[in-house]
Parts: sequence; C-alpha cells; structure tokens
Amino acid sequence: MKDIYTLGIESSCDETSVAIVKNGREILSNVIDTQIPIHEKYGGVVPEIASRNHIEAISRVTKKALEAANMTLEQIDVITPTYGPGLVGALLVGLSYAKALSFAVNKPLVGVNHIQGHIAANYITYPELEPPFLCVMMSGGNTQIIQVKGYTEFEVLGKTRDDAIGEAFDKVARVVGLGYPGGPKVDKLAQEGKPTIDLPKTHFENMDFSFSGIKTAVINVHHKNPEINKADLCASFEKTVTEILIENVMKAIRLTGIKTIALAGGVSANSYIRKAFLDLKQVYDENIKVYMPDLKLCTDNAGMIASAGYYNFIQGKTDELELNAIPNLKL
Ligand code: KG4
Repeated sequence: MKDIYTLGIESSCDETSVAIVKNGREILSNVIDTQIPIHEKYGGVVPEIASRNHIEAISRVTKKALEAANMTLEQIDVITPTYGPGLVGALLVGLSYAKALSFAVNKPLVGVNHIQGHIAANYITYPELEPPFLCVMMSGGNTQIIQVKGYTEFEVLGKTRDDAIGEAFDKVARVVGLGYPGGPKVDKLAQEGKPTIDLPKTHFENMDFSFSGIKTAVINVHHKNPEINKADLCASFEKTVTEILIENVMKAIRLTGIKTIALAGGVSANSYIRKAFLDLKQVYDENIKVYMPDLKLCTDNAGMIASAGYYNFIQGKTDELELNAIPNLKL
C-alpha cells in the first residue's frame, strides 16, 4: 500500500503547531510554537492576542515542519487542520491557512476534532495500540471518559458538568500564587507536599464529573488560612481529583468490560495522575492495561492532529473548502 503523509495544523488555543506524520503513526516533524510566555503576564490565554500570534507564526512554523521532514508541499497527501473545539479566532487562523494550502497544491482537506487528536497521541507513542479502549480525556477545556470503539467511532460515557480538570489545576495555581499555566507548577510543588488536607468530592450516579466544588474548596481553605502549606494543599488537590478520575474509570470498566485505558490531554502529563493510573493494575485488576502519551504529545501539538487526520482520511472523510471552525465541536 502507498504511504500516506498527512500535514497536521493545530491552532485551537495558544500553540501554533504544524506536523508531518507518515501513515498515522510515525512523526517526521512536529514543530510547536508556544505562546505561553506571551499570555503568562495576563494569567491566562487572551483570545485576541492568541489569534494575532497564530497569524504571525503559521507560515514560519509550516516552513520549519516541511524542512524538518525534508519534504515539499507537493509530497504531502492530505492537509488536516483542527476545526474545533477551541477559541474561534485562533481556530480560524489554522483552518484558513490549511484551506489555502489545500487549494494551492490541490490536496484533499480533512478537518480534525481536537479531542480526537488528543486520543490519537496514543497511536504515535504506542504503534501496537488499536481500538477498542477507554480514553480518559483531561485537558484545559475538556474532561471526558470516552469509549473508543474505532479510530473514528466514539461514545462519551461521562463528562464534566462544570469546569474542566485543567481549568481547576490552573485556578488552584493562580490562587496559591504559582502563575500560568498552573498545571505543571502544581505538579512540581505537590511533589514536596503531603496530601493532609480533606477536600470534597462530588459524585454522580453516572460517569459525569464536577470540579467546581473542589476548586472552590481549595480557594476557601487558602483564603481562610493564607499561611497554609501550599505544597500540602497542591498535593491534597491532586490526590482528590485523581480519586475522582479513578472512581469514574472503574465504573466505565465495569460497564463496558474494557480494561485497556489510554490517557489523553494536557493534564495527562501530571506525574501523580500517571503514577496512580499505572498502579491500577496492582490495586484493582491485573488485566488492566494503561497507555499514556509521551509527555511532549500530551499538550497541544499538530502531530496528534495529523495522526487523527490520517484515520479520518482512510475512512473516506474529506471536507470542502466551506469547512468552518466550530468552537464547541463535540466528539
Ligand atoms: O491539552 P492541553 O494542552 O490544551 C487543551 O486542549 O486544553 O491542556 C492544557 C491544560 C492546562 O490546563 C495545563 O495547566 C494542564 O493541561 N497541564 C497540566 C500539566 N501539564 C499541563 N496539569 C497538571 N499537571 C501537569 N503536569
């Protein structure tokens, strides 16, 4: 069979990224231009500034990705941009650029759902991984348990009813004075603390999540006692959210009988969460198998988008140039 090279474009939030992937699994290049230092001083992503910076970066990043893969645009088979969910202005930059490339070099355009991309990060890290499996999707905008039935077939079993888990990490970091983006900073500080502080958990009959209660509880504990040990507070927060994740994952395992679990999204870079999932085998069931993307593939990157784009393409999906950005796109 002929090799297929996909050129992925990601611009849904604060990373401008372009990647070239061979046959959905092999990264030839994955250039990521992050805007974190730009947004840091505002304590979070400013959508208008993100869009402007994507515009400035997109041509340069694309050129770098082609050079790093030692390829020309003519050698690419498919152009696969993220078209949602995300910030609409940011999405439109990558999508419009992808449409222009597709038109200019006469290559098919295949839109990719950003969440599907996060799931596909696992296919790059583990060439042997195939559906079906359960995916715990944890990012700045989403928290879901997904039954991955096929490469392009998904059922959402549970989702957050309020904040995403990454939002909660970022908020906790801001409250205790760690800055943006908070997740990695909470991760680091928690390693010096002990989970000694009781924090509330919200339970639902199904596999839905709620993180706003625990977020508010951390804010209250900190405001009532500003002298509290911040490392202990971060460690307690991480332990409690991990327990919430694992309770729902165990429900999903019981419901579906599927014991293969893949983590996805920026928060799956968290060292405490990674260890807790690796321990599931010892704690619950020796048949549980856990996959987690390489750290650099957990957060936003175009490699995962190019991988998901490959699977969409080989299933026969192509899009017209009318394809629009959908900020609240569902899986
Ligand atoms: O997947 P991602 O890069 O962007 C979205 O698609 O949303 O996720 C970003 C989120 C942020 O909330 C960030 O704080 C969090 O992932 N994050 C972490 C860690 N690294 C990134 N959260 C906890 N621990 C980490 N090590």
